[in-house]
Amino acid sequence: MNMNGYRCMACSANQAADFDGFLCPACGGNLDISYDYAAAAKEIGGKFPEGCPDLFRFSALLPLRQPRSPFPLRVGGTPLYPAPRLGELAGLRKLYLKDETLNPSASLKDRASAVAVARALDIDAGVISVASTGNAGSSLACLAAATGLSAVVFVPASAPTAKLTQMLAFGARVLAVQGNYDDAYDLCLAASDEFSWFNRSTGYNAFTREGKKTVAYEIWQELGGRAPDRVVVPTGDGNILSAIWKGWCDLKAVGLIDQLPKIDCAQSEGSAAISKTIRRIRSNNNPAVDWSTLEIQEVKASTIADSISVDQPRDGLAAVKAVIQSGGEAVTVPDQEILAAIPEMASTAGVFPEPAAATPWAAVKRMVREERIAADELIVCIVTGSGLKDITNARSVAGEPQLIEPSLEAVRDAVKTGSGFTR
Ligand SMILES: Cc1ncc(COP(=O)(O)O)c(C=O)c1O
Ligand SMILES: [Zn+2]
Repeated sequence: MNMNGYRCMACSANQAADFDGFLCPACGGNLDISYDYAAAAKEIGGKFPEGCPDLFRFSALLPLRQPRSPFPLRVGGTPLYPAPRLGELAGLRKLYLKDETLNPSASLKDRASAVAVARALDIDAGVISVASTGNAGSSLACLAAATGLSAVVFVPASAPTAKLTQMLAFGARVLAVQGNYDDAYDLCLAASDEFSWFNRSTGYNAFTREGKKTVAYEIWQELGGRAPDRVVVPTGDGNILSAIWKGWCDLKAVGLIDQLPKIDCAQSEGSAAISKTIRRIRSNNNPAVDWSTLEIQEVKASTIADSISVDQPRDGLAAVKAVIQSGGEAVTVPDQEILAAIPEMASTAGVFPEPAAATPWAAVKRMVREERIAADELIVCIVTGSGLKDITNARSVAGEPQLIEPSLEAVRDAVKTGSGFTR
């Protein structure tokens, strides 16, 4: 294992690898796992192992004792699709979609849960808990089921039915909180403390970032050993975004790339705490930010994109840092544009996103309109979760089927009066 220890995201205090807390003992900030990059570079030798496509092939840069997957499910190894017809709609020539809907529970969160569950096994934790808008919970439930661990999920009672159903079917203990995600989060913290559960919650648990960062390694491989110009990431707590930035920084640290991509933060206008902070920093024209005192102002979140509906981002500092350091954009879009992006992606690229996962494409179109990106940039949108997880919102924009009598005459009528029956 090439893990060195932990470093605080806010005050930079270091902890040794055997530290058994979750937050910085000096300031309460979130921790980031650090590596001996020289040793990792030597182990990697210029190329990650091929063969089994799951994310455990990146073990040289994972903080786990076991270099192999502890469960039979394949997490990671998702496709990066070129999406030329979708790109053309906005005049873009090199648009790609990283399809994370193909993970075991149909979202990118499986990467975080895989590493967190492997960590729970490393330290012999029997019960693993999580606060979730829906996907982290269904993903933890899935991977705990595959390992025989017990999962306890705190989720807002308003979470989409499909996500709740997944958690229940995977056999988790589901506590549906009569409140929002922020209430569920605080409750999970308190309960995990009281019952000594291993808390996998986003931001709080440093191991989630380590799983999610492997998206960057895969994109690097799939692009033939280079970074794109931009990676556009749907953002609520900010953990996925900061993880993807970390993945690229890791690749640079082990000598596999020279050029880092920009990381763009895509948010709903109704849940934009991170974007607002980035804009505030930039409007001050003061690039030297004191991260130890940076405040991220809470918002009263309201958006149809449930996965990115967050009052107080739980990994906000790391995400703000990532966007500022990478020179990326902070883009906010109204819910109507998020909704419109769902059938557009599905019908033009064949990839069906949930609302949060459609947000990057809505953000890309906005950036093109505002001339913040150029037509020849190589852009990767991260499709973080499947459209099947929230069919209510998708159905509201997908249109209605045409109801017909069971007769050929009725089909003839439909063809005569409707469109889409010929090339
Ligand atoms: C599908 C999907 N997209 C995006 C996000 C946002 O990730 P983060 O909260 O780390 O910013 C989530 C988190 O729940 C998610 O489930
Ligand atoms: Zn600290």
